[in-house]
Amino acid sequence: MLNRIFITGGAGFIGSRLARALSPSVEQITVFDNLHTQVHGEHASSPDFPENVEFILGDVADGAHLNASVMKADPDTIFHLAAETGTGQSYDEPARYNSVNVMGTAHVIEAVRSLSRQDKPRRIVLAGSRAVYGEGEYLKDDKSVNVGPVRSAANLSAGVYAPVLSDGQKLRPCPTPEWLSPEPASVYASTKLMQEYLLTQCAAEGDYEPALLRFQNVYGPGQSLKNPYTGVLSIFSSQILAGQTLNIYEDGNIVRDFVYVDDVVSALIAAGRSQKAYPDPINIGSGYPATILEAAKILLNALGAKDDGFEITGQFRPGDIRHAVADIDRARTLLNWAPEVSLETGLTELATWARQSYEAKGYV
Ligand SMILES: NC(=O)c1ccc[n+]([C@@H]2O[C@H](COP(=O)([O-])OP(=O)(O)OC[C@H]3O[C@@H](n4cnc5c(N)ncnc54)[C@H](O)[C@@H]3O)[C@@H](O)[C@H]2O)c1
Repeated sequence: MLNRIFITGGAGFIGSRLARALSPSVEQITVFDNLHTQVHGEHASSPDFPENVEFILGDVADGAHLNASVMKADPDTIFHLAAETGTGQSYDEPARYNSVNVMGTAHVIEAVRSLSRQDKPRRIVLAGSRAVYGEGEYLKDDKSVNVGPVRSAANLSAGVYAPVLSDGQKLRPCPTPEWLSPEPASVYASTKLMQEYLLTQCAAEGDYEPALLRFQNVYGPGQSLKNPYTGVLSIFSSQILAGQTLNIYEDGNIVRDFVYVDDVVSALIAAGRSQKAYPDPINIGSGYPATILEAAKILLNALGAKDDGFEITGQFRPGDIRHAVADIDRARTLLNWAPEVSLETGLTELATWARQSYEAKGYV
């Protein structure tokens, strides 16, 4: 395993970092990516890759082209990362999100099925998302588990940000384990769950082994500074560099599990390399609950901006999750993986790269 690699979305933030990390130890890597304008800007070209990385400009929604490219590459491992990734945007463009995320995954499966059966099983590693959990796990007063309910617009408008049960009972957030029932709260989340279902159900015929990783909020150098729909920390970086005041939603205490890109790359490689693919999803996160305000303050500091360069506005986005932290025990046990980069260190790396990128290209 892990010798001939195919990476859909391999020109993106996580995929390009994965390709560069794998390159020295594998024979051949094929990157299949449509250089989505929203992510890469107009007239983008392939990122600079090492010699054993071949770039193919292609769309996973184009099954015939994907099939021919997979046949030519004949990979032992496919990392499937190509996706439409904007949660808010997914409500406005459900057809596009389904076409790329759901049909794209079906095309990946059919392409793998058309490969020679002699080298089976191939492995497909999915870049899944914690978005499938919705609000994730909470505990009631009696310590019983409750999936966090969707927060009502009325409560959010009244400044009641924490999820409450219909009888008014408050809930205590806790790290979400993989066994919790999925409750996707957006079109994006539903498509990411559908990717998991397709890969699991079609694996029954034995053409490939699926490995399903559920990433938390990935951040770090290389995340698009242009894409307004994803990556709160890269959006903050652009705004700080442009001298803008950060708009911190709700009361600043939205919690996220920010996981550094290199930790995610090492999890992808561990999932590709492990002797056996574990069929159930695996959370990949830092396991550390950071508030948005805390992360914003570290970033302001790392970029040398005034530490009061933010405003807590009480604005909110319907459907937004209040508290997202992963229980990462399964990843530790099954992949022998653990995150290594602290939020402070990772944000310093992000700030250094964002400043260089901004000064070179002027992106905001
Ligand atoms: N970044 C995160 O916080 C995060 C969290 C959870 C899950 N994920 C998942 O990880 C994967 C990679 O995310 P990322 O952060 O690197 O995003 P990204 O936008 O930087 O990379 C995605 C890449 O896919 C390409 N792409 C988009 N549509 C395509 C299509 N139709 N055909 C071929 N290529 C296409 C884009 O050009 C881009 O290079 C996605 O599947 C995403 O859902 C990311």
